Amino acid sequence: MHLTVLFIFLFLTVANTTFQHPFRYQVPFTSTNDDQQKPSNSYQFKWPIRKIAIIGAGAGGLVTYREFARMGYEVRIFERDSVPGGNWHYTDEVPLNAPVPNLDLSEADFQPHLPPENVVLPYEESFVGLEPSAVSEARRAHRAPKPIWHSLTSTAPKQNQELRELPWPDHTPLTLTQNHLQRYVRTFASLHEINSNDNNPNTSYNTRVERVDKRYDANGKEAGWSLTLRKFIETGSSSYKIQWWTEEFDAIIVASGRFSAPNLPRIPGLTQWAQLYPHLISHSRQYRRPEEFTNQTVLVVGGSVSGTEIAEDLSGKAKKVFLSIRPHEDSVFRETRNMYLSRVPKNVSIVPEIKFFHPLPIRPTDENFGIRVGEIELINGTLLRGFDRIIFATGFRYAFPFLPQYHNASLRSNETIPAGSGRPQPLITDGTHIRSLHLDSFYIEEPTIGFINMNLGIESFMYSEFAASAIAKVWAGEAKLPSTQEMWDQHWQRVIDAGGAYGGQFMYLGSAKEAALVRYIIGWLNEDAVKYGGHQIDGPSENRHQVFLVWVVAQFPDYNVKSNQSAFGLSSGG
Ligand SMILES: Cc1cc2nc3c(=O)[nH]c(=O)nc-3n(C[C@H](O)[C@H](O)[C@H](O)COP(=O)(O)OP(=O)(O)OC[C@H]3O[C@@H](n4cnc5c(N)ncnc54)[C@H](O)[C@@H]3O)c2cc1C
Ligand SMILES: NC(=O)c1ccc[n+]([C@@H]2O[C@H](COP(=O)([O-])OP(=O)(O)OC[C@H]3O[C@@H](n4cnc5c(N)ncnc54)[C@H](OP(=O)(O)O)[C@@H]3O)[C@@H](O)[C@H]2O)c1
Repeated sequence: MHLTVLFIFLFLTVANTTFQHPFRYQVPFTSTNDDQQKPSNSYQFKWPIRKIAIIGAGAGGLVTYREFARMGYEVRIFERDSVPGGNWHYTDEVPLNAPVPNLDLSEADFQPHLPPENVVLPYEESFVGLEPSAVSEARRAHRAPKPIWHSLTSTAPKQNQELRELPWPDHTPLTLTQNHLQRYVRTFASLHEINSNDNNPNTSYNTRVERVDKRYDANGKEAGWSLTLRKFIETGSSSYKIQWWTEEFDAIIVASGRFSAPNLPRIPGLTQWAQLYPHLISHSRQYRRPEEFTNQTVLVVGGSVSGTEIAEDLSGKAKKVFLSIRPHEDSVFRETRNMYLSRVPKNVSIVPEIKFFHPLPIRPTDENFGIRVGEIELINGTLLRGFDRIIFATGFRYAFPFLPQYHNASLRSNETIPAGSGRPQPLITDGTHIRSLHLDSFYIEEPTIGFINMNLGIESFMYSEFAASAIAKVWAGEAKLPSTQEMWDQHWQRVIDAGGAYGGQFMYLGSAKEAALVRYIIGWLNEDAVKYGGHQIDGPSENRHQVFLVWVVAQFPDYNVKSNQSAFGLSSGG
């Protein structure tokens, strides 16, 4: 009975979607060589695009800067951190505690701090006579220390994490440490004179983009974007100041990364534990070194890359490590996750998913202090207790706090904004995916907002070179986007292909789809360059996939990579 109802519901949903969004382009990422597949008319931008803001100076933002700068755009790059590097800027300083339960996505990464109302910008506020801990908290909230740990090594060989302009030196080991990657990305920034010590006026470090608003000209016509910016300046061990100002741009590139807003599962009872002992319950983004856990009993939750690697890192120092995982039967990530699980040391106990955190005593005594006394019930009924620390390696959510107007938490995974309502299709709903992007790069509602590296299962370094090139050429008129209707048609087709709903796997590419997308971009840009002018672009080097396979076989000796290769569409990088 229930199955019948579900079937009718799914049929109606898909049929309804198909009816509302008829499509002509069956496979978005195919070559444009076939004349019949060419867009019938192209998207016309409403204003000329010359002045660009890039949000984020990680590998993606820096590569984008290079692409735009060499095409003659006026470019500014804003980075909340003090240096370039993004995810690869390792510090012992840790991010703030992850909120439990999850915050609304409009503030899950950070809560925008706008200047007080009615002040004239630029505006400055000074904070003096503070405890050093208050300065540290303000700095950490502003810059968001990155979610990597000291012993972290890369998930792919060096060839898969290379920018074409900057080959790794021969003596660099195949498996990179976080420190190699940190120095590499900074070297790339220096090569383009946009490192924080270059004092390049096109860069603004320690500067967080708080808000992006549409701006209008004197006649009320849309004219571009206005950014509200907030700079954190540490003026001493007990003082800091904040400066706010606005700047105007024709277009915006969001290269703000995918791994900032932590995801904490909604498990009954967890909120009480986290409220009573916030320092004992953390997210993987706060993990740095195993020494801190010496002789402790630690529960790590989450069986993907972070969970398995942190469990492995802890296993030599902690007294005992448990790893709570849930099955990945229907997931496109299943084989990669099985591969990571194969490397978990034998002294780590793998246990099922947690069902319940039983209430902790509200008034602890010396004898029952901490979470050691608390009972954790697993879905198979097992009760566990005696943990000193719990680390949630349960992933991240997509969020753009500086674009709240394009968040809509009310939509479920199979719902969209009704056509003709006058409201935009959002970018963000429940944080599991990003919606409404053309080629995962252009926001269809506002194609002067571009996105870099928003997919999962991509080689971010290589991929960002092609995505940035595509956006730069489109905005310069050297390549054309299809009409808005055609972009939506392709998008709805992609949703249908994903089973008629968005979800956690929607942004996943994997190496086969990534290669197809890159091939499509190259074909499209080079064909349009012939028609509209501008330079042609070269493809990526060809042997990366083979190098990756050989490397992975060596890294995971207990896992039969070869027999499962096609099942998990091997993909390197995050
Ligand atoms: C634990 C971990 C391990 C990983 N390991 C690998 C790996 O081995 N290999 C690999 O290829 N990839 C790996 N990745 C993926 C990694 O994200 C990419 O390698 C790469 O960092 C992507 O670069 P990016 O520039 O797109 O994003 P990021 O490096 O995340 O950079 C985004 C930048 O935007 C800034 N920013 C964000 N919001 C704002 C704002 N409002 N205003 C101003 N600035 C802002 C951030 O401070 C950050 O500097 C890993 C990710 C994680 C979390
Ligand atoms: N060495 C490295 O370079 C390195 C190290 C770490 C991470 N990374 C990269 O960083 C990115 C993020 O990785 P990540 O591991 O932090 O996040 P992730 O890949 O999103 O994994 C989160 C995991 O938590 C699980 N989970 C969620 N709720 C759970 C619950 N209640 N109980 C048990 N498990 C639960 C998820 O299961 P479901 O899938 O069922 O939701 C998933 O397996 C990836 O791109 C990864 O490649 C790289």
